Formats: sequence, structure tokens, C-alpha cells
Amino acid sequence: MPDGPALTTRLLDADTWPDFAALVEANNGVWGGCWCMGFHAEGFANPPSAEANRAAKEAHARAGTVHQVLVYDGDDVVGWAQFGRPPELPNIKNRAAYERELDRLPDWRIACIFTGSKHRGRGVARAAVEGALAEIAAAGGGLVEAYPEQEADRPPQRGAYFQTGPESLYAGFGFERVRKIAKWRWVMRREV
Ligand SMILES: CC(C)(COP(=O)(O)OP(=O)(O)OC[C@H]1O[C@@H](n2cnc3c(N)ncnc32)[C@H](O)[C@@H]1OP(=O)(O)O)[C@@H](O)C(=O)NCCC(=O)NCCS
Repeated sequence: MPDGPALTTRLLDADTWPDFAALVEANNGVWGGCWCMGFHAEGFANPPSAEANRAAKEAHARAGTVHQVLVYDGDDVVGWAQFGRPPELPNIKNRAAYERELDRLPDWRIACIFTGSKHRGRGVARAAVEGALAEIAAAGGGLVEAYPEQEADRPPQRGAYFQTGPESLYAGFGFERVRKIAKWRWVMRREV
């Protein structure tokens, strides 16, 4: 990690909402305006609307109905990891394939992971996942799933294409492959 203030973490809530919003705005709403709503039970606004996604996310932050670790570099939010119980985050990618061979639901899942485009490659996602696992442990732990993308045996990918994070990130925290749910996407699990 480069010299400078150490990365710290806080949870997304009413107090940290402006810091989170600043990062999303600096990244064009993330994917053009998803505002990290895709994994929530209600999903994206219909008809599509960045403003409605933003309002829905802010309502979650103010109501305490979201679990999301924000990574700070000094006063600025530079990334996050969203986690929660499956009913809170039902809309995982490749959900139909996931449900086809489901043996048991996890106690927790890590869903959306994001690092601002100017802050990649310096351990922000690692800090976010570490923070999410610490929060899960503090809440009693259990079986945790993530759904990252395989990097091995394919050409190098830009971080932008790892929408659910790279496998090596989760492997570094002891997650193990369980089954494949898309050409490059795996269910990975670990106990906390
Ligand atoms: C994937 C992503 C989260 C990585 O964030 P990051 O802060 O740059 O990652 P880190 O620096 O913490 O890297 C942690 C580990 O992930 C892996 N990794 C990160 N980016 C990688 C890449 N492009 N290729 C291969 N491995 C990568 C490495 O193993 C790295 O460990 P190392 O530093 O020991 O090599 C970031 O690129 C991103 O936000 N992409 C867009 C994701 C997105 O669209 N989210 C919204 C989903 S709806």
C-alpha cells in the first residue's frame, strides 16, 4: 500500500450517507445509475431511474435496512462491500442457476463490491471484505457466501469487469469454491 493515511471502515447509515453518495456521484452513479440497488429485495427502479435508485438507497441507509462497509481514505469513501442475510439480498447474479442446485442457503452473503475507479489496486476491496467479515463475526457469524469471478485460465481482466469481485480476493480470506453458476462465476463459502 502506498504511503498515506491508513484505510478505515464505517458502516453505511444516515451519518455516512453523504460520503457514500459522493463516491457514487464521482463514478456516474455506478454503472450509469444503479446506486448499488441491484441486490436489494426490490431491485432496480422500474421504469429505470437513477434518481429513484438513489432515493431508494438513501431510504435504506436512513432506515438501517442495509449492511454495507464503507472504506475511507482519510475523509473520503473510496469503496464498499455490501453484505446481509439472503432475504435482504436475494437478487444475486445468475440467481436462476444458483437456485437450481441450491443445497442450503448461507447465513450471510457478500453481494456488491466496488472500489472507485481512481482508487483501484491498493487494497480497498480487501479492506472492505475484511470489514464485512468482521461485522458478520460481530453479529454471530455463520456460513458466508460470495459469488466472485474466476481469474485463472482466462486473459487478464480490468477490475471493471469483476462485478462481484475476483476469486483471488475471496480465496485470500479462506473462501472455497462450491459450484459454478456461470462461465466464470463461482459460489464460494467459508464459515465465520
Ligand atoms: C474488482 C474491484 C472491486 C477490485 O477492487 P480493488 O480495490 O482494486 O482491489 P484490491 O486492490 O483490494 O485487490 C484485492 C485483490 O483482488 C485481486 N484483484 C483486484 N483487481 C484485480 C484484477 N483486475 N485482476 C485480477 N485480480 C484482481 C487481487 O488478488 C488483489 O490482491 P493483490 O493486491 O494481492 O494482487 C474493483 O476493480 C471494482 O470495483 N470493479 C468494479 C466492480 C463493480 O462493478 N461493482 C458493482 C457491481 S454491480
